[in-house]
Amino acid sequence: MRLLGEWLESNSRKSGSRIILAVDVGGPFETRLDRAASLISAVSERVVAVKVNWHLLLPYGVLGLRDLAGRCSDAGLPLIADMKLNDIGATNAEAAETLFSNGFDALIANPFVGYKEGMDDLLEKSRAMRKGVIMLVYMSHAGAKEGYGLRTGGEPLYLSFARKTRKWGADGAVVSSKSPSVIREVRSILKKEQVILSPGVGFQGGDAKKALAAGSDYLIVGRSIVESKDPGRSVEALSREARREGE
Ligand code: XMP
Repeated sequence: MRLLGEWLESNSRKSGSRIILAVDVGGPFETRLDRAASLISAVSERVVAVKVNWHLLLPYGVLGLRDLAGRCSDAGLPLIADMKLNDIGATNAEAAETLFSNGFDALIANPFVGYKEGMDDLLEKSRAMRKGVIMLVYMSHAGAKEGYGLRTGGEPLYLSFARKTRKWGADGAVVSSKSPSVIREVRSILKKEQVILSPGVGFQGGDAKKALAAGSDYLIVGRSIVESKDPGRSVEALSREARREGE
């Protein structure tokens, strides 16, 4: 696989979009997969990637999502697993291998576990398989400041996570769209080629324009699209809002 950042950039140039679809389909388990597939078909030309969370991973598992992964691959969209991986190195690497050998292109991991015997195996495995790893740097829910904003050594934890993201050579970071000032700080630490993905737009109240102006590269959007009567239109409206100056 090419580098995740390059893939997203190329998709973004083609589609004019900066939206990552969080395909968080709820409701009856029997119908989730079909609904997810239709949703992806409806918006595939207007998003840059697809992110899968527990809504599908738990009931279907990685093997049950192979067709969905194939659909994303056919559409040229990277498929990201949002497991916020957070275990010892051997277990993280096992999860990564399972995801990456079954059609997933990237995953989200939690830098809280540290490098040695935590993220080292995972990052090595991902590099060997030419897949992406995105670090969770600052979350979008109200309680995020209790953990990610915790002050230690005179600074908030997220700054340390941003520096680790840079040092470890991850593909990028997740930083809440609701915290433009945090996005700005993290952007100033990351390398240019490391992308910032920002959830929280729409349902959680984040402002797309402010997040992008602060240095975010892509917006992760779930319910505002998934629960819309016309997902295609909702993505288009979001994309218009998420245009950077000059684009
Ligand atoms: P909504 O419906 O709020 O969905 O648009 C957002 C999606 O992103 C996930 N999410 C996060 N993932 N860090 C992450 O890695 C975060 O800070 C974060 N906030 C939301 C959420 O679970 C859903 O899939």
